[in-house]
Amino acid sequence: MSKFSKNILITGGAGFIGSHVVRLFVNKYPDYRIFNLDALTYAGNLENVKDIEQAPNYKFIKGNINDIGFINDLFNENCFDAVIHLAAESHVDRSITNPNDFIETNVLGTANLLNAFKASHKENLGDKLFYHVSTDEVYGSLGKTGLFKETTPYDPQSPYAASKASSDHLVRAYGNTYGLPFMISNCSNNYGGNQFPEKLIPLFINNIKHNKSLPVYGDGNYTRDWLYVLDHALAIDEIFHKGTIGETYNIGGFNEWTNLNLIKLLCELMDKKLNRAKGSSEQLITYVKDRAGHDRRYAIDAGKLNRELGWMPSVTFEEGLEKTVDWYLSNDEWLEHMTTGTYQEYYKKMYN
Ligand code: NAD
Ligand code: DAU
Repeated sequence: MSKFSKNILITGGAGFIGSHVVRLFVNKYPDYRIFNLDALTYAGNLENVKDIEQAPNYKFIKGNINDIGFINDLFNENCFDAVIHLAAESHVDRSITNPNDFIETNVLGTANLLNAFKASHKENLGDKLFYHVSTDEVYGSLGKTGLFKETTPYDPQSPYAASKASSDHLVRAYGNTYGLPFMISNCSNNYGGNQFPEKLIPLFINNIKHNKSLPVYGDGNYTRDWLYVLDHALAIDEIFHKGTIGETYNIGGFNEWTNLNLIKLLCELMDKKLNRAKGSSEQLITYVKDRAGHDRRYAIDAGKLNRELGWMPSVTFEEGLEKTVDWYLSNDEWLEHMTTGTYQEYYKKMYN
């Protein structure tokens, strides 16, 4: 008999959010066996989970969710009690230039996991759980007012958002058709350590550090709701353990910022941290061509999660942003590994 109470598969655990979720579960639940499945794409990096690689309840598996044979074998061999699915192509700009990668991984890859999970339990899914980690982008764009609720109709605007919306629909359809026990959470923009420096905050920290221009899309008056990554991981933990099967939970930071205001705050903080003259980082701001189909505003109503499970963000934005800046400034090597090789080609193509 296994000494572990549950076998849990976490996909995408070498990426940004996945690595924080894996670390939280490995450290907090020594009686769970955590399997981290990741293809190690450009966004996945085992350095993100280095501190737990020797933990007795942790196992890394390199593999691609698009490889049906491999996925079926993996599920049959391990009989996972639960899946927490984060593996995805996650960057909107890349989805604009390369939508098929997003359809393959986010839609077909999710279908492969659902099929394998269902088949490995011979349809006897009783106390099993498929937890799907999704995004607020499935709801589309808001006007000046209003918040995304769990009941807001889907209206995805980018290939990335459409691929995540498709995967959400598939998960619900498997719940309805095959009785697959599932939960879905849709979260707002995350920030924190270990995020690949193609996303706004780590990209701008890295550029400020190297005195490179800060490419602001369009007029910069786009609004996002920012959540510290550890608070997302803690929300997933709450939902996984206390959520209701078949339910959706919105997760957000109650923390809306226009890009320009956020960038100015970040510049101010970076000036302090790098002992540069006040206002020097702001001079790096450069307005560039807008993102195609750019969503104007996202804002989450996380009231259901708060009312039903008592979750609230634990870190203020000012604290979280400072922790984040400190993380990137003290992890030079990580940043260097992430920004060499293919990153340089991506950057040239995207911004020059
Ligand atoms: P990320 O790009 O940092 O990490 C994705 C991980 O998935 C990487 O480790 C990558 O190697 C792995 N992966 C990609 N394709 C794979 C494949 N075919 N097979 C196996 N592994 C594969 O992404 P992230 O920002 O950590 O996002 C994780 C999840 O959370 C995604 O599903 C994303 O849609 C969702 N999400 C992200 C945010 C955010 O702000 N970053 C907000 C809400 C929801
Ligand atoms: O809302 C949740 C989503 O948040 C997640 O599902 C996505 O995986 C995640 O990437 C994020 O999507 P965004 O497109 O909002 O994040 P990004 O960091 O790419 O951009 C944030 C805002 O900053 C957006 O309005 C575009 C703008 N931006 C971004 C970059 C990379 C710029 O102005 N310049 C840039 O160079």
